[in-house]
Amino acid sequence: MKMQFKNYNIVSVVEDITLSVAEYVESKGIKLIFDTDIEEKIIACDAEKLERVMLNLLSNAVKFTEPDGIIKVHIHDEGESILICVKDTGLGIPQDMKEKIFDRFRQVDASLHRKAEGSGIGLSLVKSIVELHKGFITVESEIAKGSTFLLELPATLEDEELHVHGEIAATSQPNVERISIEFSDIYA
Ligand SMILES: Nc1ncnc2c1ncn2[C@@H]1O[C@H](COP(=O)(O)OP(=O)(O)OP(=O)(O)O)[C@@H](O)[C@H]1O
Ligand SMILES: [Mg+2]
Repeated sequence: MKMQFKNYNIVSVVEDITLSVAEYVESKGIKLIFDTDIEEKIIACDAEKLERVMLNLLSNAVKFTEPDGIIKVHIHDEGESILICVKDTGLGIPQDMKEKIFDRFRQVDASLHRKAEGSGIGLSLVKSIVELHKGFITVESEIAKGSTFLLELPATLEDEELHVHGEIAATSQPNVERISIEFSDIYA
């Protein structure tokens, strides 16, 4: 995977991609909430790769949450790092599967008649991208209550890049083609 680190306002990167799926999420009867401690935090990251991370986490949250559920994306400023939480009120993940779901092709319900489609690659890709940012991803979950994916990214800056790309990231439209690919398995 080729990474392209530049300085971006991580808050707009995460907010834009979250809002880009709002209509779809709400069409499923699920409420989507975005909240943030801060309006701006410039960090070195690969914005396109992080969009994929967010789309994967959001598409999972939608797949495994029933109508009337809530999905919340919250950004916390931890000073040296930034914490992005994607929380849902869905099915939850069994204790013994919490580590395993980050492996390739691993799904809690791998049976052919399972309700949700997908290959099980999503989270292994998410984990690789997060690790290439020197970050961490963990999950907290309770069966029938929901799951929270916590993504921590170090707040470092790219030395060579004095120009801030937050503006561009903030105004550019999220990649619609990629969004429909990521969500292809759940579009009814
Ligand atoms: N928010 C969530 N709530 C409940 N279970 C989840 C959630 N996110 C992931 N999982 C479990 O982890 C498994 C692996 O997720 P992953 O995103 O890697 O694969 P997938 O969504 O099944 O397929 P793909 O992402 O390749 O379309 C899922 O099949 C599901 O069992
Ligand atoms: Mg997935």
